[in-house]
Amino acid sequence: MDFEQEIARRRTFGIISHPDAGKTTLTEKLLLFGGAIQEAGAVKNNKIKKSATSDFMEIERQRGISVATSVLAFLYNDKKINILDTPGHKDFAEDTFRTLTAVDSVIVVIDVAKGVEEQTEKLVEVCRMRSIPMIVFINKLDREGKDAFDLLDEVEQKLGLSVTPLSFPIGMGYDFKGIYNIYEKNINLFSGNSKQNIEETIAFDDIESTELEGIIGENSAQELRDNLELATGVYPEFDKEAYLEGAQQPVFFGSALNNFGVRELLDCFVDIAPSPRPKKAEERLVASNEKDFSGFVFKIHANMDPKHRDRLAFIKIVSGTFERNKPYLHVRLDKKLKFSSPNAFFAEKKEIVDISYPGDIVGLHDTGNFKIGDTLTSGEKLSYTGIPSFSPEHFRYINNADPMKAKQLYKGIDQLMDEGVAQLFTLELNGRKIIGTVGALQYEVIQYRLEHEYGAKCSYENFPAHKACWVEPMEENEEFKEFKRVKQKFLAKDKRGQLVFLADSAFSLQMTQQKYPTVRLRFTSEPT
Ligand code: G4P
Repeated sequence: MDFEQEIARRRTFGIISHPDAGKTTLTEKLLLFGGAIQEAGAVKNNKIKKSATSDFMEIERQRGISVATSVLAFLYNDKKINILDTPGHKDFAEDTFRTLTAVDSVIVVIDVAKGVEEQTEKLVEVCRMRSIPMIVFINKLDREGKDAFDLLDEVEQKLGLSVTPLSFPIGMGYDFKGIYNIYEKNINLFSGNSKQNIEETIAFDDIESTELEGIIGENSAQELRDNLELATGVYPEFDKEAYLEGAQQPVFFGSALNNFGVRELLDCFVDIAPSPRPKKAEERLVASNEKDFSGFVFKIHANMDPKHRDRLAFIKIVSGTFERNKPYLHVRLDKKLKFSSPNAFFAEKKEIVDISYPGDIVGLHDTGNFKIGDTLTSGEKLSYTGIPSFSPEHFRYINNADPMKAKQLYKGIDQLMDEGVAQLFTLELNGRKIIGTVGALQYEVIQYRLEHEYGAKCSYENFPAHKACWVEPMEENEEFKEFKRVKQKFLAKDKRGQLVFLADSAFSLQMTQQKYPTVRLRFTSEPT
């Protein structure tokens, strides 16, 4: 297989959803189709529990899991599928946002009864801003839920998408009879209770045929014909180009748990989903079929064994091939590095590979060279853009609780921040350090890891901030000077040295924006 064919057969994507909508179940069914796992439950048992507690062993166990399930790769119809895991737990949302910079498309899972939920809105917004192609899967059709048209409406309204159904349910919940597959133009009947097995369905091609009445009953047959007529009247025809540009989102219905509608989703996905897309670097747009290698770090994971301080940096390959033992330029450090044991990921294991292609993820052992967002190339000075930090939700001062271990503490904080566990802000006024996180859970993780991996102790103190707002660089005019003088106590620098305003409440943020209209504040560290 040549280079172009290798690229064309790769599908690198993420599944996003609000917790409990069925992301893990769907992932597992996709892996079963790919023959990557033999039994249901293999992924499920590895799931990061939503009720992550302050039990440290639990946190450690879960960190281990998140390495194991970071990338799940398998072959299906000769396509190489890479699923990038996106933690559903809200406290790990930032990890998910970063992973979304490494996917070429996404599948959005929505619960038929709950409809669009909060976490889905946030994640879809990020994908929409980046024009990532999205397919929507409405799950749990075996349960009572919302009317299909109402749901399609809700997806359009709340998520700001332009949908078109590619399948349509026949009944729902107790009366769920099956799905008409608009994309393949056939009917699959739900035989119920197929549960963990690969789907058992009856294919049926002609919707106008009177045989339909015999199988799903007169009322259902009429209802389906009416619904399809309405759907084709209201929604535009599927347009692959529009989907690829992020301007149209096809919708499938099904039940992941019962393995119903999953094969249809997968078949359509491998058919229409994009192979690795070009990526914007600060300098230029880089096409995946360029011969020279380039890639970027989107995730860093510390070694689970505290005796070995090395970490695993996850690189998404954007262009060219990545080869074992070949020197590559670490652009930020302006240094050539060689990797003797790059890891590739398969369903649940990782192994050393000699060559990887655009769309693939390689895991590189790292002793502290990498930060999230770093670029590696064959030699060209490129920097991939678009791994922003989002405003944390929680803020606390971090204090050194063991004066003898200051050095260890700062080293530990530095490395944990490189991994993207949390964000560090240094107050302009007095140099005190503030840790900002998306969820409260991270504080315990940081404290625990500082102690166990770096031998340092820390304590926290509340810092009353509501949001971190990055101040766009601007000229030193009177307004800017006054803003800096008045807000002195709330100004800090982030790790990259960018100025950040830590607003103490939504109200004060609003007042500040009104009072200093030319000072531009952003909720992400760089434009998304
Ligand atoms: P998540 O990763 O998005 O958080 O969701 P997950 O797959 O864990 O699914 C959440 C719950 O929804 C699970 O039940 C799962 O079995 C159930 N589920 C997933 N797909 C379907 C479906 O198509 N129909 C129905 N009826 N349920 C579905 P649980 O009780 O939390 O876990 P479990 O004890 O069943 O494993």
